[in-house]
Amino acid sequence: MSVSPTPAQAETRDRVIIFDTTMRDGEQSPGASMSLEEKLELAKILEEMKVDVIEAGFPIASNGDFEAVRQIAEIVTESTVCGLARAGLADIDRCGEAVRKARRGRIHTFISTSPVHMKWKLQMEPEQVLEMVTKSVTHARNLCGDVEWSAEDATRTERDFLLRCIEAAIKAGASTINLPDTVGYSYPSEYADMFRDVIENVPGADGVIFSTHCHNDLGLAVANSVAGVQGGARQIECAINGIGERAGNAALEEIVMALKVRGDKLPFETGVETQHITRASRYVSAITGFPVQFNKAIVGKNAFAHESGIHQDGMLKNAETYEIMKPEDVGQVESNLVMGKHSGRHAFREKLKALGYELGQNALNEAFQRFKDLADKKKHVFDDDIVALVDDALASGADRIQVRSLRVIAGTEGPQEAFLTVAIDGEDKSANATGDGPVDAVFNAIHAAVPHEAILRLFQVHAVTEGTDAQAQVSVRLEEDGRIATGQAADTDTLTASAKAYVNALNNLQARKEKSAPGAKVASGF
Ligand code: KIV
Ligand code: ZN
Repeated sequence: MSVSPTPAQAETRDRVIIFDTTMRDGEQSPGASMSLEEKLELAKILEEMKVDVIEAGFPIASNGDFEAVRQIAEIVTESTVCGLARAGLADIDRCGEAVRKARRGRIHTFISTSPVHMKWKLQMEPEQVLEMVTKSVTHARNLCGDVEWSAEDATRTERDFLLRCIEAAIKAGASTINLPDTVGYSYPSEYADMFRDVIENVPGADGVIFSTHCHNDLGLAVANSVAGVQGGARQIECAINGIGERAGNAALEEIVMALKVRGDKLPFETGVETQHITRASRYVSAITGFPVQFNKAIVGKNAFAHESGIHQDGMLKNAETYEIMKPEDVGQVESNLVMGKHSGRHAFREKLKALGYELGQNALNEAFQRFKDLADKKKHVFDDDIVALVDDALASGADRIQVRSLRVIAGTEGPQEAFLTVAIDGEDKSANATGDGPVDAVFNAIHAAVPHEAILRLFQVHAVTEGTDAQAQVSVRLEEDGRIATGQAADTDTLTASAKAYVNALNNLQARKEKSAPGAKVASGF
């Protein structure tokens, strides 16, 4: 069971700042882009979860990123809202502007310090890089009281040079120093030693917070992050479900639970309210279209499942035989049977609250109507069904294009054909098309009704619960001109869910086009 610290242990526990970079480094995973609305919703979930710092984007990268950071800075009041900037003054200005209205804002600026990055990526001499450190941090401090500086590729940086850069950043006013394992190359004891060395030898180190930022190329990101804390770091940068560049970042849920469950050996605490973890994980998976592997620690479908007879027997006698934490600690509630079609709005709202949703009146009405429709079609409505339908309603509520009706001819006797009606800004448009299978026919019919150039990059179907009447949850990812948008939908009819998910992705793509200025995202350079 999760070990609660004794009062004496609690007093001596050091607080570790949890810095979430799902919307910045996480969004840099190929294909994991999120819409503005999705980012705003995720920011609310992270704040409710009591994440200390939310890195909301990279404002110079695109108008969409800038807008996301700016709007998140306006709505988030408890967590610090941070934007990323390279060392150039224009990057920092743009970032400063994006976080200007935040109650607690932070500029996070970085430059590469390793020989290989300086030579090949920056094409700069070490002394020039050192000068940039002072310049960039000084400039950022003139715009914002809270400045974090990162030495990109710190773990492959020559130690003496790293110490000089950190000293310069501290002198220029950085209050957090992040030492990333950018390429996921380090191993735990080595990473811990780097922090010990730096903290012991850099003048002014005792006045700043040191931070970890670990990539998972060797599968060591979480272990390295925890080791970094043992070496003296007091901030961990991580992402929900471990998403991020290449093999990803350290997974937030794993780090938080490792510190919580192993409090006996790791005398640290975070402020994260862990019962929100499952919801955050599901939401990130839904909006990115990245499934969570079944055996993923903490949030995988099987993380608390006990299949073998011996294990089940032990569990029945005492859950501590095979469980080191309770599923409820991370918000994994049993998929309970809920109200049927006769259940009232009040009971539905209470159920939503228990699942972590506080909806406004309009969203509640919309979700309640969907619940009633589902209860008409499906014998048992489980908690997971409700989560899927609410996420679906939140995702598609403001869509300009909506699926009105769909009829599909499928089966062994081809051709498969789809008859579709969509409403575009309230006006109905119908089309039919054949295809190589029913899904292809549906997507072709959408193409005929809403001509577009986007290319289908991902089509993915999951059953929300068990049984043949389970809702299908579909994710679709589309790409056009380098812009990527993901759509999702759930329905007991897999083809209807597919049509709705495709249309949702088209809407998100359109919204993205309208919001971003001409020109693709700038290369982030990392
Ligand atoms: O991996 C990395 O080095 C980064 C920095 C920009 C913090 O993401
Ligand atoms: Zn990174």
